[in-house]
Amino acid sequence: MADKPAVLVTRKLPDAVEARLDRDYDARLNADDRLYSGEELIERSTGAVAVIPCHTEKLSAGVIERLPETVRAICSFSVGYDHIDLNAAKARGIVVTNTPDVLSDATAEIAMLLLLGAARRAFEGEREIRTDTWAEWSAIHNLGIQVTGKRLGVVGMGRVGRIMARRARGFDMEIHYHNRRRLPPEVEEGAIFHERVEDMLPHCDFLSIHCPATPDTRHLLNAARIALLPESAVVVNTSRGAVVDDDALIAALRSGRLFAAGLDVFNNEPHIDPRYRELPNTFLLPHIGSATRETRDAMGFRALDNLDAIVAGREPRDRLV
Ligand code: DGY
Repeated sequence: MADKPAVLVTRKLPDAVEARLDRDYDARLNADDRLYSGEELIERSTGAVAVIPCHTEKLSAGVIERLPETVRAICSFSVGYDHIDLNAAKARGIVVTNTPDVLSDATAEIAMLLLLGAARRAFEGEREIRTDTWAEWSAIHNLGIQVTGKRLGVVGMGRVGRIMARRARGFDMEIHYHNRRRLPPEVEEGAIFHERVEDMLPHCDFLSIHCPATPDTRHLLNAARIALLPESAVVVNTSRGAVVDDDALIAALRSGRLFAAGLDVFNNEPHIDPRYRELPNTFLLPHIGSATRETRDAMGFRALDNLDAIVAGREPRDRLV
């Protein structure tokens, strides 16, 4: 119907989410799920009140400044917002929202999967079965590192980090964390706070990264900090690739200084540093932290709740600017 507000949806979204979009909006969907260039995104937003991007669309200042006057909101289908220049949006009076909470359990599940898989060399074992190269059971083959009772360091004790810590307690792990602010004791649940990440690292048999990508956290895991981890530590990253210095991590994995890494996120996705693929001690997943049916529906509905509020002139629940 002509009187429905037009909304640009940059990627293919789950059926239930697109059905609601179609019902309530003049939804410009992307049936082919093709990545739009900045230029296309600007063009396709003509007359739209809002854009619903994913983290795959870079809404830089240059793109935001050229969005049509009609665009009042960017309701991202993501919790992360490092792909959106918030200052540029604010300067244009464009409201930006994200989808926190609903993907925390799913992302913590993937972090735990990576932690267990990297520690127990599940990726190598699986490869042996698939390539039919499993010679024979052996008492000295495929030996991993036990997880139970070890120490886990969590960088970024937000929603996902806290759930990860809770899951890790199920393996009797001792939890250490570094966060911008210390959490209240009832939220800490016995986890040991370190004001400086450097002070925490020597206590981390396992390190799981859950902080957002910001200019401050870029290359947070660099060579100097890796050197502070115990010998044969395991690193897990489900936040953003930018938090890790690839050269430093790859060198430490190559030399055996680190036992393994489990990574769901990378710099320059999907064209990741090819050296990761060559290493036997990396467990690599294609950014599937939030990829469950339940979570992707919930992310879509949360983005639409935000959009509905903005269109109705109400305050959206997840306003960033
Ligand atoms: C997010 O929501 O930021 C995830 O990384 C992508 O789904």
